Amino acid sequence: VGVLKGAIMVMADLSRELRFHAQMDWMVVSSYGAGTKSSGVVRILKDLDSDITDRDVLIVEDIIESGLTLSWLKENFQSRGAKSVRIVTMLRKPTLQKVDLEVEYVGYDIPEDFVVGYGLDYAEDYRNLRDVAILSPTMYEDK
Ligand code: IMP
Ligand code: MG
Repeated sequence: VGVLKGAIMVMADLSRELRFHAQMDWMVVSSYGAGTKSSGVVRILKDLDSDITDRDVLIVEDIIESGLTLSWLKENFQSRGAKSVRIVTMLRKPTLQKVDLEVEYVGYDIPEDFVVGYGLDYAEDYRNLRDVAILSPTMYEDK
């Protein structure tokens, strides 16, 4: 399950490396507004198309900051009867994590900067950058 929209690039890369049959589904959840701070509130904007009862689920995420989004999503999937729920994330900001969350696969642990590119956005911009870049704080401070 890819978490849209940020996980599109990671999902495209990862899924093509899998040497077994895997289905793909997507969710859209929102824990952020247009800015850079977590609201802590998770809303489902698009739910799964498939039934995950008794399925092994791998959540594919772009970045984990507070961990609130994924800990909520993981519990949500478990309550739907998934056989297992694991998490892979391209990036993680360990010093900003607020909740205990087991993440099975982490690409890179990074500092507290706000980053964009490779699927990651700031107010919907920069997702199509080929690299991950630190967004200059002058872009969002005093807003
Ligand atoms: P969390 O709930 O605080 O872990 O936030 C996770 C979500 O916040 C990610 O899926 C991103 O959509 C967004 N996010 C967190 N940090 C960044 C960042 O540095 N750049 C872009 N989006 C971010
Ligand atoms: Mg995301």
